[in-house]
Amino acid sequence: MLNRSAEIIRKAEVFIITAGAGMGVDSGLPDFRGNHGFWNAYPAYSRLGLSFIDCANPQHFADDPAFGWGFYGHRTNLYRETVPHEGFHIIKKWIVRNSAEYFVVTSNVDGQFQKAGYADDRTLEVHGSIHWLQCQKSCSCSIWKNDEVIVIEETAMRAVQPLPRCPDCGVVSRPNILMFGDWSWLPDRTRIQENAFDRFLAANADRRIAVIEMGAGSAIPTIRATSERIGWSIESADVIRINPREPEIKPPHISLAYGALEGLLKIDALL
Ligand SMILES: NC(=O)c1ccc[n+]([C@@H]2O[C@H](COP(=O)([O-])OP(=O)(O)OC[C@H]3O[C@@H](n4cnc5c(N)ncnc54)[C@H](O)[C@@H]3O)[C@@H](O)[C@H]2O)c1
Ligand SMILES: [Zn+2]
Repeated sequence: MLNRSAEIIRKAEVFIITAGAGMGVDSGLPDFRGNHGFWNAYPAYSRLGLSFIDCANPQHFADDPAFGWGFYGHRTNLYRETVPHEGFHIIKKWIVRNSAEYFVVTSNVDGQFQKAGYADDRTLEVHGSIHWLQCQKSCSCSIWKNDEVIVIEETAMRAVQPLPRCPDCGVVSRPNILMFGDWSWLPDRTRIQENAFDRFLAANADRRIAVIEMGAGSAIPTIRATSERIGWSIESADVIRINPREPEIKPPHISLAYGALEGLLKIDALL
């Protein structure tokens, strides 16, 4: 499997990098796999008996904005402080070595690929980004950069006033992230990225494509489905799925039961 992966990487003219929350684990970020994973990362919510789905609900920004911003402000600060692990740079090195094209498709909202030097216009953030804001009432279609300083009182996971506000109507703003039961998410930024990705796929469909999927879980299978769709619909595409706990994919695609960084290092050692 590792040798075949190295062969695919060596010959790739196009890299499509698909990633879920597990991609951040080797940078020290939590995934939210099951309540156990979520509560390990956020003991305050364990005490309150709240799951990821309970916390990731846009209604909090209307009902109790300090609570809503407690969760998202904490994550904003965490993702701002995080340094992307070496795996991000290993793939970039392969792209440069092969003079290849690339595109990133991720359900992560953490902006780690851009932080590692991947281009904004080569990135599709299917669930939006924590580094962009919108009005909670969608008073306009504006989506603006999150430059806010957000202070969190961590024992209760509540944000300290003043909270980020919509510059147009003055209500508390919210991250431009698709949450659960979310009818007010503004998809415009993600739609522009989706269109760019569709054009990229159409332009590169007859070239040798390596899809490298890392840390995408099966609970919300958006990213896994994207990798598989490309792998089964484009003849010249091979998928390498790297995931320590749920690496299964139908052959001839490749399943590597490693953490992202470990898997990438092992392939790199064979190149
Ligand atoms: N960093 C983020 O932006 C972030 C973090 C948590 C959740 N989310 C959101 O929550 C949803 C969760 O779905 P998901 O599938 O991304 O995450 P998930 O938490 O459901 O699954 C994480 C996956 O990563 C794997 N994993 C664990 N350690 C790993 C490692 N070291 N290397 C590679 N893989 C590893 C696990 O086996 C699992 O399959 C997504 O929609 C996402 O938007 C985002
Ligand atoms: Zn507004």
